Amino acid sequence: MGSNKHIFSLIFLSLILLLFSGGEASGQHMNFRPTKLFVFGDSYVDTGNHGRRLSFSWKDPYGITFPGKPAGRFSDGRVLTDFIAKYWGVKSPVPYRLKRLMPQHLKNGMNFAYGGTGVFDTWIPAPNMTTQIDLFQQLIKDKLYTATDLNYSVALVSVAGNDYSHYISNNGSTEGFPSFISSVVNQMRSNLKRIHELGVKKVAVGGLQPLGCLPRNTASSTFQRCNDTSNTLVAFHNSLLSQAVTKLNQEGKDHSTFILLNLYDSFMSVLNHPSTHNIQNQFQPCCIGVSSEYSCGNVDDNSVKKYSVCDDPKSAFFWDLVHPTQAGWHAVYNKLQTSNALQQILY
Ligand SMILES: *[C@@H]1O[C@H](CO)[C@@H](O)[C@H](O)[C@H]1NC(C)=O
Ligand SMILES: *[C@@H]1O[C@H](CO)[C@@H](O)[C@H](O)[C@H]1NC(C)=O
Ligand SMILES: *[C@@H]1O[C@H](CO)[C@@H](O)[C@H](O)[C@H]1NC(C)=O
Ligand SMILES: *[C@@H]1O[C@H](CO)[C@@H](O)[C@H](O)[C@H]1NC(C)=O
Repeated sequence: MGSNKHIFSLIFLSLILLLFSGGEASGQHMNFRPTKLFVFGDSYVDTGNHGRRLSFSWKDPYGITFPGKPAGRFSDGRVLTDFIAKYWGVKSPVPYRLKRLMPQHLKNGMNFAYGGTGVFDTWIPAPNMTTQIDLFQQLIKDKLYTATDLNYSVALVSVAGNDYSHYISNNGSTEGFPSFISSVVNQMRSNLKRIHELGVKKVAVGGLQPLGCLPRNTASSTFQRCNDTSNTLVAFHNSLLSQAVTKLNQEGKDHSTFILLNLYDSFMSVLNHPSTHNIQNQFQPCCIGVSSEYSCGNVDDNSVKKYSVCDDPKSAFFWDLVHPTQAGWHAVYNKLQTSNALQQILY
């Protein structure tokens, strides 16, 4: 009896100590450890939501670096989602399309992003961001994710410019561009707010990368120079987005719910100092059509390849006309990490 009593008081004492140290650790320095990641947006974060038949992300040579064959990512390997998930200590979440096939992976969250989409409808028949959030909301209604699950979750949102490509291909006017940019950012703002209101604790959103430096836009200068006109429009988008994020944070209780990932500076920094990241070729894409009517992954009726692939995808920043290689994403991710933006999620 006596020794038991002694043990009980020891346990009691440790509990008190634990409570006190816990009290000290809480407050603003307590770390937030996400256990789930929810992803919305386009090909920069999609990890395989399109069906095999419809998308070139399922054709050779996509996926040759990782996982070794086409698997629905728009790159030779890993994309931004994979690197960021790892940094936050969660597994890259299962694509929405595969949720029934891989129920054991639901615990990591879910990826609702579809390559080619925008906040508004684009040229492809896939869910725009509003619909992606609707799909998420339905799963919450179905009790696949509880309030507590969401309380320990993070969202990653990418809007990499498909709305703008669509605007241009629909003969949108130059004069109308600024007001179209405003409407895209306004729509982003309500999307971000809605994701948080559904219960997601923290929401990270990518700023727009320098569209004028994508091979699609530098091809006319034989991959030598970025198009400054395009990058000026990007800067306008990014300044509106930055204001929107600041405002959202001011409106909320917790002033650090929304975090902007500065992809513009990260891309630029790598493109301006490629050798720091062991990249030899910063503008020329690794995989490219043999002529302008073909793209990476195209074959003719006899299955003859109509594209070429560089010898070492690790030494190229861009994979195709719009998407970075795995090495490119890794370098961008490294820059994001040094900017502290990814750490902010963890407070
Ligand atoms: C998104 O798609 C849905 C379904 O096609 C459509 O009703 C809605 O208007 C679209 N939303 C936006 C913001 O474009
Ligand atoms: C959500 O997490 C916070 C701490 O980050 C906690 O105070 C709150 O009770 C949690 N709510 C739920 C529903 O789990
Ligand atoms: C845009 O303009 C071109 C040439 O002026 C025309 O061929 C094309 O059909 C137009 N596209 C749309 C979507 O209006
Ligand atoms: C740069 O992009 C704009 C549209 O954003 C286009 O009108 C212009 O022709 C491009 N300039 C060059 C040199 O390709």
